[in-house]
Amino acid sequence: MLIRKPADIRPSEITSEANYLNRRDFIRAGAIAGGSLLASPAISAVIPDSRFAELTGVGKSRYSTDETPNSFEDISSYNNFYEFGLGKGDPIVQAEDFRPRPWTIEVSGHAEKTGIFDFEDFMKPFDLEERIYRMRCVEAWSMVIPWVGISLAEVIKHFQPTSSAQYVAFETLNDREQMPGVRGRSLDWPYREGLTIAEATNPLPILAVGIYGNVIPNQNGAPIRLVVPWKYGFKGIKSIVKIHFSSTRPKNSWNMAIPNEYGFYANVNPTVNHPRWSQARERRIGANIFASKQETLMFNGYGEHVAHLYKDLDLRRNF
Ligand code: MTE
Repeated sequence: MLIRKPADIRPSEITSEANYLNRRDFIRAGAIAGGSLLASPAISAVIPDSRFAELTGVGKSRYSTDETPNSFEDISSYNNFYEFGLGKGDPIVQAEDFRPRPWTIEVSGHAEKTGIFDFEDFMKPFDLEERIYRMRCVEAWSMVIPWVGISLAEVIKHFQPTSSAQYVAFETLNDREQMPGVRGRSLDWPYREGLTIAEATNPLPILAVGIYGNVIPNQNGAPIRLVVPWKYGFKGIKSIVKIHFSSTRPKNSWNMAIPNEYGFYANVNPTVNHPRWSQARERRIGANIFASKQETLMFNGYGEHVAHLYKDLDLRRNF
């Protein structure tokens, strides 16, 4: 398959935000007329192997926020992806030539189904859905992102973890040739993250493959990355190559690097300050520079869906 570089792709080929938003209203109106707000086409997820291609057969989700999404430019140019540099503007430049195909995902550990899967085969059993989520970074900024992805709970169910699987661990590609950042020692590579099995089977987390209805840009974690909207952004591990069902708590990169600042749970919590700054408020990227910061919500506003997961946990100690 011929992969065109972004320079060869006319802007008109990428769904504009205006068209995208119209399409969204249109789909919503159709769904209401049809009597269902949650119409979700039951077809398998087919992800085109070309940059920014439009994703088809994308259902809507009842978990989406009505808040206005950030612009595509904000979402794709202000990034954290240390494999491609430490600055927010580095990934869009340094991930330009990254090749998210061919791609395999290894599933291992305590599960009935394990193996190494081509990305295309990995995706096939699942339905694509749009999930517009508030995202809160530990650095006290936030965005609203219209992701397209598959339900992590469905993925977990598909691989049939055994009762020994208490956690799910994820790893990013570790490629010195393609990722200039991993030639340095800013983190102990590969980038690693993990969730408890209860968190991973909650309906909210997704594995995202798109933004604004199109294939996800390299700098946002192509071809597939985790999105957990009630946790600080660093849990959202990008460019995943390994999923492991574990009986013990897996390591996570930021906790390994600076354990007194970054925990395993990383739930958005305005009452627990980062040792070097307050977490009570946040700056919405793209907002007018004179706009005041907004209050950060407990569990990033997703408490009704996830607070029960932590009812027996001291969230000051388990940050
Ligand atoms: N995943 C990998 N592999 N490497 C990273 O450096 N950064 C994390 C997370 N996932 C990171 C990563 C952090 S700190 C944040 S805030 C989010 O990605 C940012 O996602 P975004 O750039 O799509 O907004």
